[in-house]
Amino acid sequence: RRRGYAVVRRCSAVEAGCGAAPPILKELRLQCATPLPLLRRVADAMAADMRAGLAADGAGELKMIPSYVYSLPTGNETGLFYALDLGGTNFRVLRVQLGGKDKRVVGTEFEQVSIPKEIMHGTTEELFDFIADRLSAFVAKEGGDFHLAEGRNREIGFTFSFPVKQTSIDSGILIKWTKGFAVSGTAGKDVVACLNAAMERQGLDMRVSALVNDTVGTLAGAHYWDDDVMVAVILGTGTNACYIERTEVIPKLQHLGLGAGNTIINTEWGAFSDNLPLTEFDRAMDIESINPGEQIFEKTISGMYLGEIVRRVLVKMAQVSDLFGHSFPNKLAEPFVLRTPHLCAMQQDNSEDLGQVKSIMHDIVDVNLSSLAARRVIIEVSDCIIKRGGRLAGAGIAGILQKMEDNTKGLIRRRKVVAMDGGLYENYPQYRVYMLEAMAELLGPRDSEDVVVEHTKDGSGIGAALLAAVNSKYAA
Ligand code: GLC
Repeated sequence: RRRGYAVVRRCSAVEAGCGAAPPILKELRLQCATPLPLLRRVADAMAADMRAGLAADGAGELKMIPSYVYSLPTGNETGLFYALDLGGTNFRVLRVQLGGKDKRVVGTEFEQVSIPKEIMHGTTEELFDFIADRLSAFVAKEGGDFHLAEGRNREIGFTFSFPVKQTSIDSGILIKWTKGFAVSGTAGKDVVACLNAAMERQGLDMRVSALVNDTVGTLAGAHYWDDDVMVAVILGTGTNACYIERTEVIPKLQHLGLGAGNTIINTEWGAFSDNLPLTEFDRAMDIESINPGEQIFEKTISGMYLGEIVRRVLVKMAQVSDLFGHSFPNKLAEPFVLRTPHLCAMQQDNSEDLGQVKSIMHDIVDVNLSSLAARRVIIEVSDCIIKRGGRLAGAGIAGILQKMEDNTKGLIRRRKVVAMDGGLYENYPQYRVYMLEAMAELLGPRDSEDVVVEHTKDGSGIGAALLAAVNSKYAA
């Protein structure tokens, strides 16, 4: 091929790997860069938006949703409780037997069910009937260590990980679906009423005693074991954070006359977008998504989207260079075929020839990456997007901690634990390291000492069951 003749110059992968990165990669690095001053602006904007959202509904991008949780589990709770966790492509049902002060959690059992795509895109009745049916089958297997005390009924903590306008501890209206759910007719409805109706259709006699976001469940679950837990963050398919706030600094709750005390605020930080370093690839993905213009922070940092952003970069590279050979790899054109776990598996390849990268790209998009340079490009693109995501997540957490500091004017130093859950944090070491590095840069040595990030695996289910116990309708 003679250079200079093609309208769009296709640079070769070998060139690409030889120091002179292809222009797209260079440009990408620039656009995704997250130097400390930018992270500071993001953290400041996050804190400012939190204040706005606490002042009045709709005043900022963050909804800052009051959870109606005013007391956290103490450890004294006893009895059998269920949890139902709906928030991604799987839902989980769980039962826990609580033994009170010394025994705490006597036993847990759970089942996980994957939600068929047609249900995720079906009607409200179909979705809730599906859930109630599986819940009913799970309840039917109760036995062994699990038993209901006399005079009590089965109660559920319902973890529903979508933006809900909470109207009480056991009711809330779905604002909108996120994370690829497109169930018709649910937005604007009380999801507890939807579940109750479905349970009734199943002949299942259970009560929802607490409706919680997954972040709120995680916070309650982690706080049960450690009083210093004050923030919970989910970094998985989607992303969100909640934290413990003082009721007297929440202007929009003052009419309730709650007085001094604490409550949990679900920030719904996925909706944040201020100061984010976005690229043409992010914008195109957003426009083609089922919720354009919404959840921009989530689309930049969470698991559902990172693989897709990388795919879009690779598509462009395939169009203007021979990164994948001379013809365009058709499979690469399919949205979401490259998933974040694939990026992760490729980034763990420490071999000299990056053989794993070659075989994964071959399996997923049917391309033959014969040159090492081309495999390196894939890793570099992934790293760029992962690094931006991890560092921005870190800036978000720093923003929350900054807002919490406001209350004490920085005068009181104490240990603060951030309970963390979600596959992205758990399974993607590079992402986790980038996140922690950004936090350390932003917090500085003094504050870093006080802040601990703790992995709380699957805490949201138990947390929801515990909140059902705290808010039991059959108090012992
Ligand atoms: C999405 C939901 C939010 C949830 C988060 C993590 O952002 O809107 O409610 O907490 O995903 O699952």
